[in-house]
Amino acid sequence: MGTYEPILTKGIGELDLTEIEVYRKTGGYEQLRRAVREMEPDAIVDTVMKSNLRGRGGAGFPTGRKWSFLPKDGRPRYLVCNCDEAEPGTFKDRMLLEKTPHQVIEGIMVSAYAIRAARAFIYIRGEMLEGYEIFCRALGEARQAGLVGEKICGGEWGCELVVHRGAGAYICGEETGLLNSLEGKRGEPRLKPPFPATAGAYNMPTVVNNVETLAYVTQILARGAEWFAAIGPVKSPGPKIVSVSGHVRKPGNYEVPLGISIRELIYEVAGGFRDGRTFKAVQPGGGSSACLFEEHLDTPYDFDSIAAAGSMLGSGAVVVMDDTADMLECALVLQRFFAHESCGQCTPCREGTHWSEAMLERLLEGRGRKLDVDLLGTIGDKIAGHSLCALGDASVPFLQSVVKRFPEEFLRGAARLPGVPLLAAAAR
Ligand SMILES: Cc1cc2nc3c(=O)[nH]c(=O)nc-3n(C[C@H](O)[C@H](O)[C@H](O)COP(=O)(O)O)c2cc1C
Ligand code: SF4
Repeated sequence: MGTYEPILTKGIGELDLTEIEVYRKTGGYEQLRRAVREMEPDAIVDTVMKSNLRGRGGAGFPTGRKWSFLPKDGRPRYLVCNCDEAEPGTFKDRMLLEKTPHQVIEGIMVSAYAIRAARAFIYIRGEMLEGYEIFCRALGEARQAGLVGEKICGGEWGCELVVHRGAGAYICGEETGLLNSLEGKRGEPRLKPPFPATAGAYNMPTVVNNVETLAYVTQILARGAEWFAAIGPVKSPGPKIVSVSGHVRKPGNYEVPLGISIRELIYEVAGGFRDGRTFKAVQPGGGSSACLFEEHLDTPYDFDSIAAAGSMLGSGAVVVMDDTADMLECALVLQRFFAHESCGQCTPCREGTHWSEAMLERLLEGRGRKLDVDLLGTIGDKIAGHSLCALGDASVPFLQSVVKRFPEEFLRGAARLPGVPLLAAAAR
């Protein structure tokens, strides 16, 4: 196995990086000082553009390009750091928040300066109480040290960083649902366009970026765009924190270069399977991603290769299943999640996730019908592409991929009884 240089994860587990002085000794806040005192904001945007950094929050959109969409019309701009992190299988942002909060603050402030933000926000998932408290303490230290607020690092630029806690809804991680929630409205996604770049928080030009994305901006300033662009595939470069979970010996967060193979990730980085167990399937991008199988193990783990294989890298949550995994049970757990988290605005998503859950429940109890299995394989075609936000789309890939690959695991629930009327089951 190759040895990988930890970048964002450097010092975690060895140093108490929640203390500002410890963080500073590692070079912390030097890039914020350099940015504010020595660089023009546009030069930072150019550097990020050249690095080919792609967002680490799910969609993999190029960060520099996103920043360049902001209109130059004199209106106040806002930066929002998305720390809602509720994708099943993802737990990297929580680690950054809890273990190295100053790195998160520096990433936000450097990026806020780059886009000339009047104000920055961080939206923290409600359940991350410990991370929230650690972050608030670190923010207090940073403010006292003149790194947040007025006249940052003794220069002319000032920017306040506002902490907002969510209340535990997955949909508030979707950028426009988040913005509604931030404004005190119901956390429902907005119709796009307009995109946040033109009409975001409080109707002002806004950039929403993931915690990890913003943290890499600091490192790109420190080490250069060329350094970042040279790691991994040209169109999908850089190191990435991957949350590996499921049936592996060593689940955890690993910072690896994109382009590493899925096989290497599972067997070498995460220690492979328990004795006697074998590989069955893997979700390469969390609960929203289609499963990949044995024939995909040598696929490079990067945005484009995973998409070409029929799935998505998402936020980098690798959920590994061995031969003991029951796909019917797994599908029910996930579908229950999506049905519960659907905000209910769109009929296909609201109804489709609920009906799929009802059919899976029936099959698991041995009261299903063969028709249910057929429907489970196709119902997603009526949801994906017919809903307002990507949650509807996200509820489809896992279910369709496993029904297609392991139909017998679903049909077993249809074998015992001829079935019950659909409406009776759904009403339960
Ligand atoms: C249902 C749903 C949940 C999401 N949850 C998160 C999240 O918790 N954190 C996050 O960064 N992005 C999440 N996203 C993606 C955001 O909408 C947005 O694309 C991202 O914050 C942009 O940051 P990036 O460009 O740095 O990746 C979610 C998207 C959807 C559809
Ligand atoms: S797709 Fe689902 S979660 Fe998204 S807006 Fe529509 S109902 Fe809400």
